[in-house]
Amino acid sequence: MEAAPAILQMKGIAKRYPGVVALDGVDLEVRRGEVHILLGENGAGKSTLMKILAGAVRRDAGTIALDGRECDLATPRAAQAAGVSIIYQEFNLVPHLTVAENIFLGREPRGQVPGLISAARLRTDAARLLRELEVTINPGAVVADLGVAEQQMVEVAKALSVEAKILVLDEPTSALSDKEIAQLFKVIRALRGRGVALIYISHRMEELFQIGDRVTVMRDGRYIATRDIPQTTLPELVSLMVGRDLTEHFPKKAVPPGEELLRVEHLSRTGALHDISLTLRRGEVVGLAGLMGSGRTELARAIFGADPVTAGRVTVKGREVKVGSPRQAIGLGLGLLTEDRKRQGLVLCLDIRANTCLASVDRFSAAGVVDGRRETAAAQKLTADLRVKTPGLHQRVVNLSGGNQQKVVLAKWLCCEADILIFDEPTRGIDVGSKVEIYQLINRLAAEGKAILMISSELPEILGMSDRILVMNRGRIAGEFTAAEATQEKILHCALGAHAA
Ligand SMILES: Nc1ncnc2c1ncn2[C@@H]1O[C@H](COP(=O)(O)OP(=O)(O)OP(=O)(O)O)[C@@H](O)[C@H]1O
Ligand SMILES: [Mg+2]
Repeated sequence: MEAAPAILQMKGIAKRYPGVVALDGVDLEVRRGEVHILLGENGAGKSTLMKILAGAVRRDAGTIALDGRECDLATPRAAQAAGVSIIYQEFNLVPHLTVAENIFLGREPRGQVPGLISAARLRTDAARLLRELEVTINPGAVVADLGVAEQQMVEVAKALSVEAKILVLDEPTSALSDKEIAQLFKVIRALRGRGVALIYISHRMEELFQIGDRVTVMRDGRYIATRDIPQTTLPELVSLMVGRDLTEHFPKKAVPPGEELLRVEHLSRTGALHDISLTLRRGEVVGLAGLMGSGRTELARAIFGADPVTAGRVTVKGREVKVGSPRQAIGLGLGLLTEDRKRQGLVLCLDIRANTCLASVDRFSAAGVVDGRRETAAAQKLTADLRVKTPGLHQRVVNLSGGNQQKVVLAKWLCCEADILIFDEPTRGIDVGSKVEIYQLINRLAAEGKAILMISSELPEILGMSDRILVMNRGRIAGEFTAAEATQEKILHCALGAHAA
């Protein structure tokens, strides 16, 4: 079969930031009507390359040709006019505007204020796009009130609202449920059928084989290789990506459990959590599985004092406590790594060091004075352990790649003295190589006598790293398994409520 002509040719693209070579002469060729995967470790330069294509970042060198004609793509507007549409890794929505206003933002007739111009028209158009995606989101809802998954679907609708020749999706599925992912893939396949070229970035390796036609691998800002998906394998891609073979994906080390650190009894929150009981002991990693919306994050927030509870008892280290706020929770030795790093996990304008030490000020201060040297040493060690890609600890977190930001959130909780740690999707957006690093850190924490509750949507991760597994369904604990008895099928069965309903 003859290959479709290249719709996009990027050649020798280079980009430097102070202290960082983000891109060092990268080539990328994408064909009409294909899903082209862009693969690489955290910080490899994928998002930067796509921002250059979308006119959001200026390149230092290199050429871009669309349909064989060289283009400048100097501004987002120019790129859009040339048919390039992008869904950014970081949400790009305006929180206080409605869904409909966000979808058509910047494309209303000039000189008019969104909301004043035919709001009704905006809404019907938005409703049509959302219907195509088969999602039930009210076009009149304010974006700030939506969950992460819904916001992601609004991003997709926004990208679909322009007739794109090239659609870039930078980690579009990291916050979506399986059902929403399936829906998105349907939309992607339909667009591909219409001849749109799609560039797709994801760290969920299984997706690449489901949706990709070809893949280009990048490493350290350089082009490494391009392969046809049917002609390659997961181990080959992983080794191209990380530059070495990864033998062990789940380096689980079991630790004999010690004293009970946390006991939750009959915890309820009207409409969200029903009669939840669980325990966590020193040295244990307890996996919390369940579908998106099953109440896992709500449970974590309730234990952490971020949301009020209507009934139930919480005992920390043998003492019954009332956790009224996250501040109190931290005082009691609890830590919560949130799933939504941008909104709850980081102060983007501060540097890596400050963010890492954010939850541990007490640990590094004596008589009210912070010991800066100890802070620096701790931050240095953690960023090295987690292989955060940065020129130094003084880099502001806003300048890090998405996955490296996630590592800093992790570092923050690894740094603090908390011995009851709740990790909500700890490896979301983390590349395959670095995941192993994070699992090793989780092992180390358990060996140090900490107790860990790990929420994850990735069943291999739950199965690979947990001593015990709890499964949630509609706000209840629907089942509990030991590591030995658990299987993917049993967990799914339970998560779907197959025997409860
Ligand atoms: N505005 C900026 N200022 C300084 N450095 C930057 C800036 N934007 C990106 N970088 C750096 O450029 C490199 C490439 O980042 P990029 O975001 O393209 O990586 P990525 O491949 O998308 O990674 P991830 O998988 O984590 O999203 C990183 O080292 C990053 O810290
Ligand atoms: Mg990125």
